[in-house]
Amino acid sequence: MGKHLIEPKDLSNDEVIELINIGNSIYANPADYSHVCNGKILASLFFEPSTRTKFSFDTAMIRLGGHIIGFADADTSSAKKGESLADTIRVMNFYSDIIVMRHPKEGAPKLASEYSDIPIINAGDGGHNHPTQTLTDLFTISRYKKTLNNHTIAFVGDLKYGRTVHSLIKTLAGFNSKKFILVSPLELSLPQFLIDYLKLNYPHIEIQIARYLEDVIHEADIIYMTRIQKERFFNEEDYLKLKNSFLLDKEKMKKAKNDAIVMHPLPRVNEISYEIDDDPRSVYFEQSKLGVYIRMALITKMLEVGDYAIS
Ligand code: NCD
Repeated sequence: MGKHLIEPKDLSNDEVIELINIGNSIYANPADYSHVCNGKILASLFFEPSTRTKFSFDTAMIRLGGHIIGFADADTSSAKKGESLADTIRVMNFYSDIIVMRHPKEGAPKLASEYSDIPIINAGDGGHNHPTQTLTDLFTISRYKKTLNNHTIAFVGDLKYGRTVHSLIKTLAGFNSKKFILVSPLELSLPQFLIDYLKLNYPHIEIQIARYLEDVIHEADIIYMTRIQKERFFNEEDYLKLKNSFLLDKEKMKKAKNDAIVMHPLPRVNEISYEIDDDPRSVYFEQSKLGVYIRMALITKMLEVGDYAIS
């Protein structure tokens, strides 16, 4: 496994499966792992808001016996005074053993990795990638659907700016998905370069573009909902026009398969009605819980501790 995790393709399929296996083992026997990061420090640098990603990493490190330093608001760091990312990273190398960072600019974690001798984990860079959400999603799929292969997945919502979709779709393609159904308003379609990439590298995967979820929901094994990424819109008017475009409710769920699962990286805003939270097919809260275990697995692997200690 490479030193840093910047984009999903930094992990091979075998490495993804290995992390899922470690995640399952930690889930089953958390006490076995509660000291593997004793004395280690994770720096959590969030230049953009977060609830799940930041706190699931914090919890993951604490449950492994390690410590956390960092900031959840870049305005409290020297970035506010104009310090460059490169300088921040150089210094954090003296203070910590591993860095988790989220940044509004695409490519920032990649740049950071060029100045870092310790592992950098990308916790989301602009509309680009979010590899640890992808691991969370794959872990969830593997636990509910047993395999990562051969599914029909409906990606719904903001496919243009949503980094979770951009990361997940590339990775799932590598696990021989059967079909991707891309459900979004025209203005929020999956970027053409990604469609071209999928068609070129995975010509066997069927890609269908749909405007309305109710037309295609019956086909999906996995319904992956996403939030409209308001903060990445260039003008408020465009946002307001689209903000309520998609709402998954009881009526639509009647048409979904009995064994389908509904996922969402969260936060939800207007995409999933609260009335379906009790539907056994809704797994989005469980998904955020599973994120802790797969992040614990990732930290142990990247720090080479526990079973991965170099003797
Ligand atoms: C996502 C993100 O930050 O990209 N959230 C998360 O990490 N769980 C999705 C979103 O903000 O819509």
